[in-house]
Amino acid sequence: MKAFCVAIGIATAVAWSSPLLAASIPPPGAAACSGCHAAGTVPASPVSRLYGRDAGDIMTAMTGFRDGSLPATVMTRIAKGFSDDELRAIAAWLAAQK
Ligand code: HEC
Repeated sequence: MKAFCVAIGIATAVAWSSPLLAASIPPPGAAACSGCHAAGTVPASPVSRLYGRDAGDIMTAMTGFRDGSLPATVMTRIAKGFSDDELRAIAAWLAAQK
């Protein structure tokens, strides 16, 4: 699972690499979110959009998923893979995207 996620992260990071986006390179783990959550501002999937969402709200959801207080199907398992520091970095990066 970890190798799978790293592979997705690398593939996504490569796909996103462009001089224009160099200033907003996602922190480790963040690129994998867009496998299910649509990247960009136009919803393209039934899974909610994360770009531009409040970082505190993302942290609250992720820590809730991780400790089981917020019921979910897949996010409970995904959230367990990240430390607080990693989640803070991902939440801040997602919140800064437009
Ligand atoms: C395998 C697909 C998948 C991946 C990868 C994924 N998510 Fe999710 N996410 C979901 C689904 C499905 C839900 C709805 C809750 C549930 O059933 O798990 C969700 C819900 C959420 C929510 C709550 C959204 C809301 O509107 O309340 C947040 C926040 C979230 N995910 C953050 C993330 C972050 C951050 C990442 C990357 C580290 C990520 N997700 C990666 C599928 C995914």
